[in-house]
Amino acid sequence: MPTELQPARGTHDLIGEDQRRHQFVIDTARRIAGIYGFDQWATPIFEDTRVFARTLGETSDVVMKEMYTFEDRGGDSITLRPEFTAGVCRALVSNGLTQSLPQKVFLAGPMFRYDRPQKGRYRQFHQIDIEVLGSAEPLADAEVITCGWEIIKALGISQQVVLELNTLGDKESRQAYRDALVAYFTEHQGALSQDSLERLDRNPLRILDSKDPGDRKLVADAPTITPYLTEAAGGFYEGVKRYLTLFGVPFRENPRIVRGLDYYGHTAFEFITTKLGAQDAVGGGGRYDGLVAEMGGPQVPAVGWALGVDRLALLLDGPPAAPAGVAVVPIGDTEAAALEIVQALRQAGIRAEMAYRGNLRRRMERANRIGARAAVIIGDDDIARGVAQVKDLQTGEQEAVALKDIPARLR
Ligand code: HAM
Repeated sequence: MPTELQPARGTHDLIGEDQRRHQFVIDTARRIAGIYGFDQWATPIFEDTRVFARTLGETSDVVMKEMYTFEDRGGDSITLRPEFTAGVCRALVSNGLTQSLPQKVFLAGPMFRYDRPQKGRYRQFHQIDIEVLGSAEPLADAEVITCGWEIIKALGISQQVVLELNTLGDKESRQAYRDALVAYFTEHQGALSQDSLERLDRNPLRILDSKDPGDRKLVADAPTITPYLTEAAGGFYEGVKRYLTLFGVPFRENPRIVRGLDYYGHTAFEFITTKLGAQDAVGGGGRYDGLVAEMGGPQVPAVGWALGVDRLALLLDGPPAAPAGVAVVPIGDTEAAALEIVQALRQAGIRAEMAYRGNLRRRMERANRIGARAAVIIGDDDIARGVAQVKDLQTGEQEAVALKDIPARLR
């Protein structure tokens, strides 16, 4: 293998501690989502390009610059999923589930965005995601957000994460707000960055998300949506906040949150951290009442979020401990008896290993290297007495234990 072969730019291998962190995030999320009544789905990693191209917003960065789109050998345009939500809506329609609502879905898996890689930002990254499809109630938004917050708490990182909440209102509110923003930014267009000038026509709300320092100064004084909210939209937002308070979820209102994808209306939120430099969002989501209809289904109101597994894994305090098993070590001609012990331990659900070969010293070295908590050492004399030596590798204490008692002893 040529030594210069490296993982493709923006991808990373998950091995050892990295994999344990990653898996701990996913397992914790699946457990909590289960408690909240979400069932796991798995949707394909690639989809027909049309699933994403229009639905995520033709002016969004994800669609304009970041999709991995290619023509397959049959001439179909395929896209590696940059997010879960559009695929979930497609799946709801394809599987005829629009008659069985609400659906509460949990997903986990890799995503692909052709982004500029840096710490916490990858081209293949991983998300956990939940969606409630088929509820227009603010209670659904609050339940979804609360489940996310409980996952962050269970991961032990809630001190480092803040929930920021906003509303994007309904269509009418957004149209009025959009007009107000266009008027404001047009007045200051001399100071706008080139990117934002382009957004001014197509999607002025996105200017609020600009990272350009000049834009940010203008954004600081830009109008907020609040005075443009219709009574219904304002009432919906109040409902979400009331339920969040009832569930005891702390949040901070941030009227600048617009989200990077275009399908949102009403609730929009992000889980922000100060610990990852520029990559400050560990997750985000909101309500998207029009997406299922765009997939050719009926009008199905929905709300959900995705959390970045790679970013959450970086925030975890200590890595989850490596599993500590038992090493079985034959001395002399005792391989068969040793293998019986290995089998008995494994049958009892205890992680157990015997090196494929090697003398006593080598085998004990390997036991230490794999972090075994105990060694079961068996020689000819032991077999004659029906015992093996059980050695605690932390304390070094060793004692003879009857063969049949070994699994119970090491449980
Ligand atoms: P998003 O804000 O695009 O939302 O992504 C959610 C999270 O994925 C981000 O907050 C971040 O933690 C992680 N993420 C995004 N891009 C990268 C990257 N290049 N490298 C590492 N992590 C990344 C969505 O994807 C929506 N589908 C969320 C949603 C679900 N809305 C409703 N339902």
